[in-house]
Amino acid sequence: MGAQQVAERFAELYGAAPEGVWAAPGRVNLIGEHTDYNDGFVMPFALPHRTTAAVSRRTDGILRLHSADVDGEPVELRLDGLAPQTDTDWTAYPAGVVWALREAGHGVTGADVHLSATVPTGAGLSSSAALEVVIALALNDLYGLGLQRWRLARLCQRAENVYVGAPTGIMDQTASACCQEGHALFLDTRDLSQQQIPFDLAAEGLRLLVVDTQVKHAHSGGEYGKRRAGCEKGAALLGVDALRDIPYDGLDAALAGLGDEEEVVRLVRHVVTEDHRVERVVGLLRAGETRAIGPVLTEGHASLRDDFRISCPELDLVVDTALATGALGARMTGGGFGGSAIVLAEATDVDTLTKATEEAFAAAAFTPPRIFEAVPSAGARRLA
Ligand code: GLA
Repeated sequence: MGAQQVAERFAELYGAAPEGVWAAPGRVNLIGEHTDYNDGFVMPFALPHRTTAAVSRRTDGILRLHSADVDGEPVELRLDGLAPQTDTDWTAYPAGVVWALREAGHGVTGADVHLSATVPTGAGLSSSAALEVVIALALNDLYGLGLQRWRLARLCQRAENVYVGAPTGIMDQTASACCQEGHALFLDTRDLSQQQIPFDLAAEGLRLLVVDTQVKHAHSGGEYGKRRAGCEKGAALLGVDALRDIPYDGLDAALAGLGDEEEVVRLVRHVVTEDHRVERVVGLLRAGETRAIGPVLTEGHASLRDDFRISCPELDLVVDTALATGALGARMTGGGFGGSAIVLAEATDVDTLTKATEEAFAAAAFTPPRIFEAVPSAGARRLA
């Protein structure tokens, strides 16, 4: 929805125009999965799908939240009553950001908010990060907090980890806050240093399709946390701060040192090879060899499926069908256990690939997938 419509709906709900309107996008991750909580490398880019928020300040310690997707009156919360893991509804994400800002000493005294989102939820496309970041950016501007984008991303991650209770890394919030149109973001999650890598597929006759399997996932569920704990165990057994510290050419020696810890071996192997894949993709893109990243993406999928074990039959079917139909590469994207896959293809193959995927899902009696083209889009910004 456009900024003006969101502002008009705000005015209907709250009786006055908003002080401003902001938007923050969802993302897909090109490569670098489950590396962010291991201090490693990731390479997401922003989608055109976004959450838009019309916001005004309040001075009475009240936060009112309304979403176009939820019927009824705004939800009203008292800021001094906000406490971690007391809210299991969607309101926990924006309330968590306000809580994190206040906890960090920023004088936020209340807000009225109306939200409208086009990022599909539960699809592995970071609808939660978009929701967090749009609130953080709006309050940063309105309250003149002067926080840099990376700092806003950190506060949003804290909201998600502590307030909502989902043990996620820093990739999604940084992607939503920092991505730039026409670029993928090469992010070092250890120090949050960033490089914008030009990623203009259309200019090269290529397309990147997102296939949302419609299998819903949730990161507050146990499997994500178990993988994270397994990686931390691996780092502890290997005597490093994080798996990022195991160099690719030291992988075999590290794995040998893990003895019969079979599960940890698989997790470590995924993370170390995945960090290396990010570096390979960056190198190939810098060299102008965009088509050559396809097989690296596919290798990443095999590693997530076989070593990290977070794929599912629907995601595997997307990848297998894409590769059998001439795609350059394909992989699941995001946290796993459902959500979306990405497919890199020649522009001329898109229709055939779309049809083949839909047919394969129908033949397997899976829910029809949602397929759309991903164009690297702008990060969070003020619209009005
Ligand atoms: C989710 C998390 C991210 C990251 C990915 C996997 O999207 O929110 O922090 O860990 O899964 O790469």
